[in-house]
Amino acid sequence: MARGNDMSGQRTVGVVGAAGLIIQIVLGFFVAGDVSSPLSPFLLSTHMIIGLSGVALVAYLVARAYYVASAGLKFLYLVTFIIVLAQIALGFRILSVIDQQLAMSHQGAGIAILVLLGLSEMMLARQKRAQAASASVKVAQK
Ligand code: HEM
Repeated sequence: MARGNDMSGQRTVGVVGAAGLIIQIVLGFFVAGDVSSPLSPFLLSTHMIIGLSGVALVAYLVARAYYVASAGLKFLYLVTFIIVLAQIALGFRILSVIDQQLAMSHQGAGIAILVLLGLSEMMLARQKRAQAASASVKVAQK
Protein backbone atom coordinates (compact mmCIF):
# COMPACT_ATOMS: atom_id res chain seq x y z
CA MET A 1 0.00 0.00 0.00
CA ALA A 2 1.45 3.35 -1.02
CA ARG A 3 1.52 5.67 1.94
CA GLY A 4 3.54 8.44 0.31
CA ASN A 5 3.68 11.76 2.08
CA ASP A 6 -0.05 12.41 2.10
CA MET A 7 -0.93 14.16 5.33
CA SER A 8 -4.57 15.00 4.61
CA GLY A 9 -5.84 11.93 6.53
CA GLN A 10 -3.68 12.94 9.47
CA ARG A 11 -5.10 16.47 9.44
CA THR A 12 -8.71 15.34 9.11
CA VAL A 13 -8.39 12.92 12.01
CA GLY A 14 -6.60 15.61 14.05
CA VAL A 15 -9.36 18.16 13.44
CA VAL A 16 -12.12 15.60 14.16
CA GLY A 17 -10.21 14.62 17.32
CA ALA A 18 -9.89 18.23 18.49
CA ALA A 19 -13.62 18.85 17.89
CA GLY A 20 -14.50 15.63 19.75
CA LEU A 21 -12.20 16.64 22.56
CA ILE A 22 -13.99 19.96 23.06
CA ILE A 23 -17.31 18.06 23.30
CA GLN A 24 -15.60 15.64 25.71
CA ILE A 25 -14.33 18.44 27.97
CA VAL A 26 -17.76 20.14 28.03
CA LEU A 27 -19.36 16.75 28.84
CA GLY A 28 -16.77 16.29 31.59
CA PHE A 29 -17.79 19.58 33.22
CA PHE A 30 -21.44 18.47 33.08
CA VAL A 31 -20.51 15.09 34.61
CA ALA A 32 -18.55 16.87 37.35
CA GLY A 33 -21.39 19.36 37.97
CA ASP A 34 -23.15 19.15 41.32
CA VAL A 35 -26.60 19.16 39.76
CA SER A 36 -27.65 15.58 39.20
CA SER A 37 -30.27 15.05 36.54
CA PRO A 38 -31.93 11.98 35.01
CA LEU A 39 -29.45 12.47 32.16
CA SER A 40 -26.38 12.12 34.42
CA PRO A 41 -25.75 8.36 33.87
CA PHE A 42 -26.20 8.85 30.13
CA LEU A 43 -23.74 11.78 30.11
CA LEU A 44 -21.17 9.73 32.04
CA SER A 45 -21.48 6.74 29.68
CA THR A 46 -21.14 9.06 26.67
CA HIS A 47 -18.11 10.69 28.32
CA MET A 48 -16.52 7.26 28.90
CA ILE A 49 -17.22 6.03 25.36
CA ILE A 50 -15.82 9.20 23.74
CA GLY A 51 -12.76 8.99 26.03
CA LEU A 52 -12.06 5.38 25.09
CA SER A 53 -12.57 6.14 21.38
CA GLY A 54 -10.06 8.98 21.82
CA VAL A 55 -7.38 6.39 22.60
CA ALA A 56 -8.01 4.67 19.26
CA LEU A 57 -7.97 8.01 17.47
CA VAL A 58 -4.66 9.16 18.98
CA ALA A 59 -3.18 5.67 18.40
CA TYR A 60 -4.05 6.11 14.72
CA LEU A 61 -2.32 9.53 14.71
CA VAL A 62 0.81 8.07 16.31
CA ALA A 63 0.88 5.13 13.89
CA ARG A 64 0.42 7.36 10.85
CA ALA A 65 2.94 9.90 12.10
CA TYR A 66 5.52 7.12 11.72
CA TYR A 67 5.12 7.41 7.94
CA VAL A 68 4.34 11.06 7.27
CA ALA A 69 5.43 13.28 10.14
CA SER A 70 8.65 14.98 11.18
CA ALA A 71 10.52 13.81 14.30
CA GLY A 72 9.11 16.71 16.37
CA LEU A 73 5.56 15.83 15.39
CA LYS A 74 6.09 12.13 16.12
CA PHE A 75 7.25 13.10 19.61
CA LEU A 76 4.26 15.40 20.12
CA TYR A 77 1.78 12.68 19.13
CA LEU A 78 3.52 10.17 21.37
CA VAL A 79 3.33 12.51 24.38
CA THR A 80 -0.36 13.15 23.59
CA PHE A 81 -0.99 9.38 23.43
CA ILE A 82 0.64 8.81 26.82
CA ILE A 83 -1.38 11.64 28.42
CA VAL A 84 -4.61 10.24 26.91
CA LEU A 85 -3.83 6.83 28.43
CA ALA A 86 -3.16 8.49 31.80
CA GLN A 87 -6.42 10.42 31.41
CA ILE A 88 -8.40 7.19 30.94
CA ALA A 89 -6.72 5.69 34.01
CA LEU A 90 -7.55 8.85 36.00
CA GLY A 91 -11.16 8.72 34.76
CA PHE A 92 -11.61 5.14 36.04
CA ARG A 93 -9.88 6.02 39.31
CA ILE A 94 -12.25 8.98 39.87
CA LEU A 95 -15.17 6.60 39.33
CA SER A 96 -13.98 4.43 42.21
CA VAL A 97 -12.52 7.07 44.58
CA ILE A 98 -13.95 10.55 45.06
CA ASP A 99 -10.87 12.73 45.32
CA GLN A 100 -10.68 16.44 44.52
CA GLN A 101 -7.02 16.23 43.52
CA LEU A 102 -7.66 13.38 41.07
CA ALA A 103 -10.55 15.35 39.57
CA MET A 104 -8.32 18.41 39.16
CA SER A 105 -5.59 16.32 37.49
CA HIS A 106 -8.24 14.85 35.17
CA GLN A 107 -9.40 18.36 34.29
CA GLY A 108 -5.81 19.60 33.73
CA ALA A 109 -4.93 16.59 31.56
CA GLY A 110 -8.04 17.25 29.42
CA ILE A 111 -6.88 20.81 28.75
CA ALA A 112 -3.27 19.62 28.16
CA ILE A 113 -4.50 17.14 25.50
CA LEU A 114 -6.39 19.96 23.79
CA VAL A 115 -3.27 22.19 23.75
CA LEU A 116 -1.09 19.32 22.45
CA LEU A 117 -3.55 18.47 19.66
CA GLY A 118 -3.71 22.15 18.68
CA LEU A 119 0.10 22.35 18.58
CA SER A 120 0.28 19.17 16.47
CA GLU A 121 -2.20 20.61 13.98
CA MET A 122 -0.11 23.78 13.71
CA MET A 123 3.10 21.80 13.17
CA LEU A 124 1.36 19.59 10.61
CA ALA A 125 0.17 22.67 8.68
CA ARG A 126 3.72 24.08 8.70
CA GLN A 127 5.17 20.77 7.52
CA LYS A 128 2.60 20.58 4.72
CA ARG A 129 3.41 24.14 3.59
CA ALA A 130 7.16 23.44 3.62
CA GLN A 131 6.65 20.28 1.54
CA ALA A 132 4.43 22.09 -0.96
CA ALA A 133 7.05 24.86 -1.29
CA SER A 134 9.91 22.39 -1.88
CA ALA A 135 7.78 20.47 -4.41
CA SER A 136 7.11 23.65 -6.40
CA VAL A 137 10.83 24.55 -6.34
CA LYS A 138 11.62 21.07 -7.75
CA VAL A 139 9.02 21.55 -10.53
CA ALA A 140 10.47 24.98 -11.36
CA GLN A 141 13.99 23.52 -11.58
CA LYS A 142 12.95 20.84 -14.10
C1 HEM B 1 -9.61 12.00 26.66
C2 HEM B 1 -10.48 11.58 27.56
C3 HEM B 1 -11.12 12.45 28.61
C4 HEM B 1 -11.14 13.82 28.77
C5 HEM B 1 -10.50 14.88 27.90
C6 HEM B 1 -11.90 14.09 29.98
C7 HEM B 1 -12.14 15.35 30.49
C8 HEM B 1 -12.86 15.61 31.65
C9 HEM B 1 -13.06 16.92 32.24
C10 HEM B 1 -12.51 18.22 31.69
C11 HEM B 1 -13.80 16.75 33.35
C12 HEM B 1 -14.25 17.85 34.34
C13 HEM B 1 -13.35 17.75 35.56
C14 HEM B 1 -13.77 18.63 36.70
O1 HEM B 1 -14.26 19.75 36.49
O2 HEM B 1 -13.58 18.22 37.87
C15 HEM B 1 -14.09 15.35 33.50
C16 HEM B 1 -14.82 14.79 34.53
C17 HEM B 1 -14.98 13.45 34.71
N1 HEM B 1 -14.52 12.43 33.89
FE1 HEM B 1 -13.43 12.65 32.22
N2 HEM B 1 -12.32 12.88 30.52
C18 HEM B 1 -11.87 11.87 29.72
C19 HEM B 1 -12.06 10.51 29.88
C20 HEM B 1 -12.76 9.95 30.92
C21 HEM B 1 -12.99 8.53 31.12
C22 HEM B 1 -12.51 7.44 30.15
C23 HEM B 1 -13.70 8.40 32.27
C24 HEM B 1 -14.21 7.17 32.97
C25 HEM B 1 -13.76 6.01 32.84
C26 HEM B 1 -13.92 9.71 32.82
C27 HEM B 1 -14.60 9.97 33.97
C28 HEM B 1 -14.88 11.22 34.47
C29 HEM B 1 -15.62 11.46 35.70
C30 HEM B 1 -16.20 10.40 36.63
C31 HEM B 1 -15.68 12.85 35.86
C32 HEM B 1 -16.36 13.62 37.01
C33 HEM B 1 -15.28 14.03 38.00
C34 HEM B 1 -15.86 14.78 39.19
O3 HEM B 1 -16.91 14.39 39.68
O4 HEM B 1 -15.22 15.77 39.62
N3 HEM B 1 -13.34 10.63 31.97
N4 HEM B 1 -13.50 14.68 32.45
